[in-house]
Amino acid sequence: MHGPFRRMSRINQRCQSKKYASTMNPSKRDGFTSKFGVLVATLGSAVGLGNIWKFPSLTGVNGGAGFLLVYLLATLMVGLPLMMAETTLGRAARANAITTFDRLAPRQHGWKLIGWMGFLSALLIMAFYSEVAGWVYAYIFKAMSGEVLTSDPKIAGEIFGALVSNPTSSLIWQWVVLGITGSIIMLGVSKGIEAVTRKLMPVLYILLLVLCARSLTLEGAARGLTFLFSPDFSKITPTVVLTAFGLAFFKLSLGMGTMLTYGSYFREDQNIPATTTRVMLADLSVSLLAGIAIFPAVFAFGFEPAAGPSLVFMTIPAVFTAMPGGIVFMTIFFILTAIASVGAILSLLEVPVAILSERFGMGRKKASTCTILTIALIGAPAALSQGVLAETKLFGMNAFELFDFLSSNVLLPLGGILICLFVGWVYGLPELEKRLSNEGTLDNRGLIRAVFFLVRYVAPLSIAIVLLHGLKVF
Ligand code: PHE
Repeated sequence: MHGPFRRMSRINQRCQSKKYASTMNPSKRDGFTSKFGVLVATLGSAVGLGNIWKFPSLTGVNGGAGFLLVYLLATLMVGLPLMMAETTLGRAARANAITTFDRLAPRQHGWKLIGWMGFLSALLIMAFYSEVAGWVYAYIFKAMSGEVLTSDPKIAGEIFGALVSNPTSSLIWQWVVLGITGSIIMLGVSKGIEAVTRKLMPVLYILLLVLCARSLTLEGAARGLTFLFSPDFSKITPTVVLTAFGLAFFKLSLGMGTMLTYGSYFREDQNIPATTTRVMLADLSVSLLAGIAIFPAVFAFGFEPAAGPSLVFMTIPAVFTAMPGGIVFMTIFFILTAIASVGAILSLLEVPVAILSERFGMGRKKASTCTILTIALIGAPAALSQGVLAETKLFGMNAFELFDFLSSNVLLPLGGILICLFVGWVYGLPELEKRLSNEGTLDNRGLIRAVFFLVRYVAPLSIAIVLLHGLKVF
């Protein structure tokens, strides 16, 4: 190449590498600032209504300790390896859930679908999750005012029914949740998500420990502990196993791009296997503490552990009413649940916000506003589904149930399988090894091989079974 041509090509190269640098340079993107920040923000995503609403109610319905045991197994075999894989992909690409696949598999466009499915899942989950969080917010005030002070679960049920069937209060509480979390997400990754979860997580633990102390010092508390920790193997049925796998998935915010997106904000020197293991253990501890706060009290006052999703809103108020200092502890309980929901909601919002701002060039504020308004729109039928829209059903489900079903039973497992297949069969072991060992600086080859094996074979197969079960194929 001569003269002007050579110069042109040099300029071209420079432009290209500049373009590359501006999109790939992590310092240009917002991200978590410290290793502790990464840990609390990621833990904030994992911890949520899943620990305090889903975990105890599912453990109650599915027979206690046996369910817990299977849940542990699912978390170790599928949840944790997938969490490592997702955060690794995110950090390698330094991009939102869709662009990640553009960068890691530039010639295979189909994988982008994972990101789009994540976009959709985030909106659908938020549509009902924000509603449950809204009930929790409302209950803080009901608990404080003594309005739900009744030891009769039936009356507690009527109070709950009155709240959720009232269209105005349902919508307003949902908007309050969206308004609060929306204004945090606008502040960005480090100043919003990281700063807020850093403050909230310690408070969450302290409140949870206070409740545990109260529950454990009640007379008859031991029966609750036996229920939670001494497995009755005859109660482990196929449905119990599949439910436990599904929960492990939802709990660690997997299969929908949340961990991909958060991974893209991880520090370059973050030890991913160590961080994700800590998050998994800390998340588990929150679930167990929630169980310890709830079951001993439930048994001590002779209530039913198998109340299901209404456990938190009907049984719990009755349980707290029966104990000395009930109003205070009930208020603490709902404040703590509201706090737990914040980090999870922020991580759900971040998936669409990152996509809208990075792929569609929207500013952070505009992207956040669009996301919140869209959720308010799709969330409205979910909010009204316990009242005026209760009889409006599709496939026999109201909007709330439909959104929960589509996301938890279809999109999340499907996304999980696709991410496993991508890592196991496209991304491959050498690349995974390079990334998970921080370019060979960490000595963890054996662990990475085990993770790879689980992600390549064990996880996709077991998730496929959960998916088919969720679709009621068998
Ligand atoms: N892990 C959250 C919880 O337990 C829920 C969640 C699911 C958050 C998927 C983000 C993505 O409540």
